[in-house]
Formats: sequence, structure tokens, C-alpha cells
Amino acid sequence: MAQRDTVAFYSFSGKTERVADYIAAQLGCGEVRINEAKKRSAFSAFLMGSLAAMQHKPSKLAPLDFNSSAVAEIYLCTPIWAGNITPAAVSFLQKYMVQGKNVRIITTASGAENKALFQNIKPIVEGIGCKFVGLLQLNPKVDGFDAVTSGKEGAKLGVDVLSPDVWQIKPNI
Ligand SMILES: Cc1cc2nc3c(=O)[nH]c(=O)nc-3n(C[C@H](O)[C@H](O)[C@H](O)COP(=O)(O)O)c2cc1C
Repeated sequence: MAQRDTVAFYSFSGKTERVADYIAAQLGCGEVRINEAKKRSAFSAFLMGSLAAMQHKPSKLAPLDFNSSAVAEIYLCTPIWAGNITPAAVSFLQKYMVQGKNVRIITTASGAENKALFQNIKPIVEGIGCKFVGLLQLNPKVDGFDAVTSGKEGAKLGVDVLSPDVWQIKPNI
């Protein structure tokens, strides 16, 4: 079977989902939604979720019909919680990615670029035997972020995910 790129996403309040839809459309590839087994309250997200995110701890996911063997490259989209990727994103990587796959991470956040993010994520991706081939941080400073994440029709991001130049490929501090 030919291997294909896939966009996988976790979204707590809908912004990352819209980014994932946009990116999957740009790439012309399929999408997989990651759900936690138990839907979180905002309280749980901010308290337990942020703590787990800081510790790179996975959360329990709802069953997912996904096999990464057939994937060429995964584009994992996740919000940032407490300066890190979400527990659901960590869980997806640990549970569903087979070794040796190329992983790109796309984050959405309400704040500006997080200079430590690349180093925060690298051990998680490499810890499961995958290759961390790129990070793209999207936030309200990026052109089109608010329009895309609020679902405005025809909205475009000011970065082109098809361009190698937009991807951070090494630590910047
Ligand atoms: C529990 C929690 C922690 C967050 N921590 C951060 C953070 O550390 N830095 C930041 O810029 N935004 C933070 N945010 C904001 C989200 O990353 C941002 O709004 C994101 O785009 C939401 O995506 P979603 O709508 O797909 O859930 C946090 C949001 C939540 C719910």
C-alpha cells in the first residue's frame, strides 16, 4: 500500500481543529481526530491537564481507528498547554506511532512563540523512536490565525505549510 501523509489533531476548544482542517486541505491528505476517553472540563484542562503537559504525561484516549504503518509523515496538530504539547498528543505519539516515522508538530497557542518548545518536544518524539522533522508554531501573531481558528470562510494562514522554510528543524536557543 502506498504511504500517505496524515494530519492528526487534538483540540480542546476548536481552534486546532480548524487549523488541522486547513492544513489537511492544503496537503490534500486525510485527517484523524484524537479524543480523550473522558471529555475534560475547563477546570480539569487547566489544573490536571497543564500539570500532565508539563510532565509530558499521556492521557487516556478514546479508541482510535488508526494505523501509522501506512503513513509517510504525520502532521500532529495540538494546542499548547503550559508551554508543552497536550497529554492527548503525547498519548497519540506513544500509542499509535510506529518507530522510524517522520513526525511534524503544529501547535496553536494564545501567546507568542515559545523558544523552548522545540527542545520540550524533541525527547517525546525521539523517545518513541520517531524522527522529529519539523515544528510550526501558530499563534495570534501569525497572519490569518484568528480568521482561520474562528472558522471565517476563505480564511488563509500567512504561512505555507508546503514550504520547507516555515518549519523549525532545530533548537533555536
Ligand atoms: C489548559 C490550557 C493551558 C494553556 N496554556 C497555554 C500556554 O502555556 N501558552 C499559550 O500561549 N497558550 C496556552 N493556552 C491557550 C491555547 O493553547 C490556545 O488557545 C489554543 O489555540 C487552543 O486550541 P484548541 O481550541 O484547539 O483547544 C492554554 C489553554 C489551555 C486550555
